Amino acid sequence: MQRSTVKDCKVLPLTKIHNRAGNITIVEGNKDVSFDIKRIYYLYDIPGGEERGGHAHKELFQLIVAASGAFDVLLDDGKNKKSVTLNRPEFGLIVVPGIWRELNNFSSGAICLVLSSEIYSEDDYIRDYDDFNKRIQK
Ligand code: TYD
Repeated sequence: MQRSTVKDCKVLPLTKIHNRAGNITIVEGNKDVSFDIKRIYYLYDIPGGEERGGHAHKELFQLIVAASGAFDVLLDDGKNKKSVTLNRPEFGLIVVPGIWRELNNFSSGAICLVLSSEIYSEDDYIRDYDDFNKRIQK
């Protein structure tokens, strides 16, 4: 697994085109983000008080966007933690491989849009925090 730090996870300002009829934000793979975008998914209808995430990825890069509403992303590299609040659709959080993440404090109606560098693979997940800690000590 790639060794990373929470400092590698940055909030990116995204292109926003504004006019009277509303806004549009664009994300292109290998241009606005450093990876090819192979998969998009989104979390929605999240009940109040629920938490998501609770895992790390071995190889996957992601851009996480609050397409609507707001939520917090807690990042943990095994040594340092960092909490990022996402609440504007024209900003996205890059999460690199090797970072434990937890998402919580979802506002009512929040939509969490995720642009990912790989298609879904359960083998890429580390879902156990002790396992995560062991791997990053190696
Ligand atoms: P998971 O990534 O654990 O959700 P979260 O991090 O948002 O809490 O995924 C939840 C379930 O959905 C799990 O059973 C795997 C499945 N899933 C897919 O089948 N394909 C996907 O692309 C994703 C993201 C999840």
